Amino acid sequence: MDVREAILSRRTHKHWTGEPVPRVVLEDLLELARWAPNHRLTNPWRFAVMPAEALARYGEHVRQNLAAYAGTKPGAAEAIREKLEKMLPKLGAVIIVGCQVDPDPKIHAEDRDACAAACQNILLGATARGLASFWSTGALLTSPPAKAFYGFGDNVVLVGAICLGTAADTPQSKREPLEGKVRWL
Ligand SMILES: Cc1cc2nc3c(=O)[nH]c(=O)nc-3n(C[C@H](O)[C@H](O)[C@H](O)COP(=O)(O)O)c2cc1C
Repeated sequence: MDVREAILSRRTHKHWTGEPVPRVVLEDLLELARWAPNHRLTNPWRFAVMPAEALARYGEHVRQNLAAYAGTKPGAAEAIREKLEKMLPKLGAVIIVGCQVDPDPKIHAEDRDACAAACQNILLGATARGLASFWSTGALLTSPPAKAFYGFGDNVVLVGAICLGTAADTPQSKREPLEGKVRWL
């Protein structure tokens, strides 16, 4: 699959079979991630990798700390619990992407952009391998208490949880046309 086909065929998947993603595949996706462009070569990304067996441990951790994960948002505990029981056991792995915080806001903004590029590299690499993927910023995987489980300190912000696995659906998506969004000079 060439890069154009990977970009166009990548979709956000929400339904999975539960098949684990092998470690060697995860290592290769991390290799793609670290080759994302990054200004000043700050290498700002920090990764936490949860293969299938770690996801089971994470699920137990969330179950035991549900109130902390849900916070004060009405209905959040139910929503997290549902994803915990229905989605988490079906994922093949999750790569958490964090960004090291730079005290200079301009540098930090660019570092976050670089981390987003790293996320996209993972998504496209997964697509090229026939894996389903999903960039999540949902409460189940990115609530504040999750950071401690991932081993990230205060100097790291979460950029996304890249869910990976085998697809059990064929999602469709759409984009607005470019009309009105491009100026050719
Ligand atoms: C920064 C970022 C955060 C996202 N967080 C979520 C999320 O928490 N839940 C979700 O359903 N989709 C999330 N998405 C995926 C988008 O919803 C998805 O890309 C969009 O619906 C278009 O679908 P497609 O990726 O299949 O084209 C996120 C995407 C990005 C770039």
